[in-house]
Formats: sequence, structure tokens, C-alpha cells
Amino acid sequence: MTTDNLRTRVDQLREQVRYHQYRYYVLDDPAVSDAEFDALFRELQALEAEHPDLQDPNSPTVRVGGVVSDRFRRVEHPTPILSLANAFGEADLRAWRDRLLRLLPEEEQSNLAYVVEPKFDGLTVVLHFADGRFVLGATRGDGEVGEDITPNLRTLREMPLRIPANPDVAAVTPTRLAVRGETYVEVAEFESFNQRQEEQGERTYANPRNFAAGSLRLLDSGISARRPLKLWTYEILVLEGGEELTGHWQTLDYLKRLGFPVSPEVRRFADADFDELARYVVDWHDLRRRLPFELDGMVIKVDSLAQRQRLGYTGKDPRWAVAYKSGGEEATTKLVDIFVKVGRTGALTPNAVLAPVPIGGVVVSAATLHNEDYVRDLDIRIGDTVLVKRAGDVIPKVLRPLPELRDGSEREFRMPEICPVCGEAVVRHPGEAATYCVNNACPAQLVRRVEHFVSRGAMDIRGFGIKQGELFVEKGYIRDLADIYQLPWDEIAALEGYGDKRVENLKEGVEASKAQPVARLLIGLGIRFVGEVVAEEIMAHFADIFELMAADEETLNAIDGIGPKIAESLVEFFALETNRALVQKFADLGVRTTAEARPQVDAEALPFSGLTFVITGTLPSMSRDDASDYIEAHGGKVTGSVSSKTDFLVAGEKAGSKLTKAEQLGVPVLSEEELRQRGG
Ligand code: IVH
Repeated sequence: MTTDNLRTRVDQLREQVRYHQYRYYVLDDPAVSDAEFDALFRELQALEAEHPDLQDPNSPTVRVGGVVSDRFRRVEHPTPILSLANAFGEADLRAWRDRLLRLLPEEEQSNLAYVVEPKFDGLTVVLHFADGRFVLGATRGDGEVGEDITPNLRTLREMPLRIPANPDVAAVTPTRLAVRGETYVEVAEFESFNQRQEEQGERTYANPRNFAAGSLRLLDSGISARRPLKLWTYEILVLEGGEELTGHWQTLDYLKRLGFPVSPEVRRFADADFDELARYVVDWHDLRRRLPFELDGMVIKVDSLAQRQRLGYTGKDPRWAVAYKSGGEEATTKLVDIFVKVGRTGALTPNAVLAPVPIGGVVVSAATLHNEDYVRDLDIRIGDTVLVKRAGDVIPKVLRPLPELRDGSEREFRMPEICPVCGEAVVRHPGEAATYCVNNACPAQLVRRVEHFVSRGAMDIRGFGIKQGELFVEKGYIRDLADIYQLPWDEIAALEGYGDKRVENLKEGVEASKAQPVARLLIGLGIRFVGEVVAEEIMAHFADIFELMAADEETLNAIDGIGPKIAESLVEFFALETNRALVQKFADLGVRTTAEARPQVDAEALPFSGLTFVITGTLPSMSRDDASDYIEAHGGKVTGSVSSKTDFLVAGEKAGSKLTKAEQLGVPVLSEEELRQRGG
């Protein structure tokens, strides 16, 4: 390479590394796999090492990756939050140890020991305590300055807000302490969150780490409190007035006694047992299979704090620690075919059929392709050679095709227009990634639909749970939801575990549910966006479910509290003949389909009937509840937010954004006095 070419390549690599760091740290949305990033980074490191004249203090190899966003207050870290050098494979690991032995004086080598920890695949946080109280928590940011996310961190269940957390455990309280840890989300929690989001047409995350990152940096700590974030701590950055510490093993014990979460999966090895250490580390997939969260490798650290100090740092990495990664988690193979699976929510997912290939000790022959856009955006074609990643126990994933290996025989993939399981037309909403089958009787979704139908929030059938749902669907007794009302009880009584008493109870539960309010039947149908509040609101406007079935989008949209998404979803559901037939079947089997009798009071005669109010600010003599009661007693309705459907805003002192909104929309504003005048 000429000097010019070399310079261009180095500039290019720096640019790319910075871009990918930005995607990873700031957007929580990496564009390449970790292995691809590592390859770029290492190429850059190698070029810089060979050509000292090309070195630059601003190169991303010198600075820790990551950028601070301006959404949060900035926090300067007490010491730089360093990163770790990687060792890919056993040879790298041994080379790291050889260097330690070269750097440490002979008399130090005999007491050299290591602590091995999991490398948690989460987000670094720095936690500050003053006189035993949690006072500040920050993200890593660029390594020198992080973001203040104290309120979010306070919501973590494992976060000791006071130390020692348990006064019965002996531990000296430090006057000042800064601890480094990792927040993460368990794989199962991540998956169920994504599933719920998908059901509600909301954003999903690519992996647990992105989910954790997104949750940690939410501006609303109320929302982050509902995210299943967890924490492990593993280093002390600042310690004043605490116990005297000489080693890392001791540090972990101290952290534990203070009440911090410390992984039980830590091991200490003397240097004499390095072979054993290497075996343990190289086999880290074993550990990863046992743990409910994702690992990104193993971290090997020098135990003695004095030796750590002596070993020091190179650029941004400590010499005294290394991250072991097997690097063998990705492989290329042929994408033989794409088949579409229908999930229990009705979402259609394209799946890759792969030529079997070993990855990380397991033979992989299938992988997920997420959704239609994923396949199209990455231009993945049937017949392509593809890069596949397998991380932990999560479903392997196709990362990208290798288009340079195409021979022209590859075919593009198209999402089917009908459900591959039941044959009904599928729908995909603009702005959403998933394609759905909305046929209520689609066998792929039946068990889950039954489970929902019988649940407390819907028809509330006592004694009927997921077990019964699975069994009756499997036996063929339930082919659509209405079959619940014509179960072959005699046959069921002959099944194992179903004595007379049990069957009797179950039957009673089923019978009793026929009289449930019709809103519950509507909830039970499992129409997207139609939960309890919406169902009740809707059924207050129709005499029976058949009237609702005949309503068009416009009619539905005019109902207070029913937005266009809900209206569209309802119309879409009842547009399918199978769904309409299902409702008829419920009626034929004696399930209540009519709304409760409408109230006898002549609502039309009341001064506020048909009018919707919003209340804001402090009223002179009425509390908000008083005002609300007053309006409702006069036939009106009170809602929480101002929209074009609001008839009046009742405003008192210190009215804020609702008043502005009302003015913008031209909604008339009433004082308390004016309200009373109109109420008569
Ligand atoms: S020690 C100077 N220990 O891995 C000490 N880091 O690739 C460096 N990480 O940014 C950190 N588990 O967020 C350490 N047991 C562990 C870790 C760990 C995960 C993360 C950490 C760091 C990244 C480096």
C-alpha cells in the first residue's frame, strides 16, 4: 500500500469505527455485528501500530467509544471508565498471561492470581454513594462524562439505596464510594416484552442489550420502573472511609456484604492453575447456557490491587484484565429456503432454512428473519450465502447476505398474502413491521386465544386455564372459541385427571360465563387494541354485538375514546366472514350478545347530556372530583385530555397545557361559575 492509500484506509476505518460506535452507544441500534465491528477495530489498531506516524490522539482506538447525549445532565466520572482488550481464543489468552509475567518482577509472580467473571452483555453504570446513601448514577457516556440517570436507577429492585443494605451483616460503611456495574435484562423478560409490544403494534427491540439500553435511558422513570432491568456490580472506582482492600476477590466480598448484587459465578485461580482457568474460560458456553441472561464472553482480571497498579494501562484498556471471546459465534452458510411461521399472536415471521452449520458447539439449521422489512432492507435472497449469528440460547439470526458470492440463481422472497396455516387473507398496517393473520379461528393462534378468552379479564371461566386450553385444542374439541360452549363433557370425564367433580365444576364455570356482560365477550374475541376500557365504552353505544358488527369506521370513530386505530381494527376483524360466523355461533349457543338494558333515566333531558368536559387547574370552590360528579350528575362526561371531541374545558387557576390546547382547537372554556349556570 502506498502512503496515500494507507492514510485513506486509516481515515476510512476511523470514520467507520466512529459511526458504528455512535450507532451502538447513542442510538442503541447497532448496524453491524460485534464480530464485524471488532474486525474493523483490529485492522485500524494494527495499521496504527505498524505506522506510528499515522497515530492520532483523537483516533477511536485511543478514545473510549460512546458519546454523551444532551437529553440528560452530564456527570463527570471520578476516574475514566475504561474498556477491555479482547482475547479471541486460547492462544490470545495465553499471550496475555505471558505479557503479565514479563511485566511483573520475579518475586511478584509466585502470588499472581486471577478472578474470572462473566462478561455481562448490558450497559455500564457508575453508582455513587455518600455516607451510605445512593446519591448519583450515571451511564458510561464517552468514558469521561456520562449521563445522569439517577431516577431510573433508583427504580431497580437490586439497587441498594442505602448501604449496608442489611444492618445485620458486618461491613464498614464508606464515607464515599463509587461502584461500577452492568445493568441488563434477562432473555425471557426481553422476549415477553417484545411479544407484548408486537401485540400492541408498538416498537420492539433487536436484543436484550438494546432493550436494556432503551429502558435505562428513558426520560420517564415511571416507565423505566416497569421495565425488568437488573444489575450486577463488579468494580470499585472510589473508596473512602471503608474497609482496607488489597484484592479483587476481597472487593467482591465487600460489595456483597454492603448489599450490592455480585454474580455468584465468579472464580479465583492461582497462576499455577492457569491451565484449569483456560479450560474453564474456553468452555464458557456451558455457563452461558445455564444463565438466564446473555453473556458476551468472560473477563479475566488480576486479583491483587497492587499488581494491577503496577501493570497499568495501554491507551484505554487496563493491562490487568482481558475479555475472552470465542469469536466462533458467527458462521456463513447457504440459505436454502424461507418459510413463514404464524406465531400465537397471529404475526407472520419469515424463517430461514439453512444448510446445517456448527456455531459455538451447536449445529444450526434454522434462523429467524424477523419480518418482511428485515429481509427486504438487507436484500436477503433465497439461495444466498449468509452470515449467521448464534448468541446464547436465543434463536439464531441471519445477519446479512454475502452478495459477492451470488451466482444469479438466487430468488427474492415475498410475504404471502394469505395465512399459510388457515388460508385467510393477512393484513399489514402502514408503519408497522409485522404482518398479521386476524382470523380468530386460525389454528396457529387458537390455544392462546382460548387462554385469553377464559381469563379473568375476559369471560372469567373458573377452573379453565391454559392446561385445559391446550388439551381441548389438541384433542380437537375446540376448533374455534365458541366450541368452548359445546364441549363433549362425557368424553372429557373419561380423560385422565378429569373426575366427575372436576368436570362438573368446569361445566358450571362454562355455563355461568354465558351470562357475562357482552363487553367481556368482546374482550374475549381478542381484537387488537380492544381491552376492557375500550370494550365497555363501545358496548355502551350498541344494543348488541351484531349492531357493532355492522358499524363502519366513521361511526366507531365518532365514539368518545375510540381512535382511528381501534376503529380500523374492529372493522378489519368483523370484515372476515369466519369472525362474523363465530359471533353468530356464540349467540346460537346461548352466550349473551346483547348489551345491558340502557339506563331508564331520560338522559336526553339533562342539561349536559351528550357533552364531554375536561377539567383543569384549581377551581375556586370545587375539587376536581366535585366538579366531575357535578358534570356527571347533570348527564355530562368527563375525560382526561382535550381533543376535537371535547365540548368544554372547565378551567381554574394555574391551568396549563390543556388550556393552551383548548384555545388552539377552539374549545370553549368555562369558569366554575359558568359551569354552574349552565347546569341550572
Ligand atoms: S471490568 C477496567 N468486568 O465489558 C475494567 N467489565 O468490553 C473494565 N463488562 O465496558 C471493566 N461484564 O461494561 C468488567 N465482569 C465484568 C464485565 C465488564 C461486562 C463490560 C463493561 C465494559 C465492557 C468492556
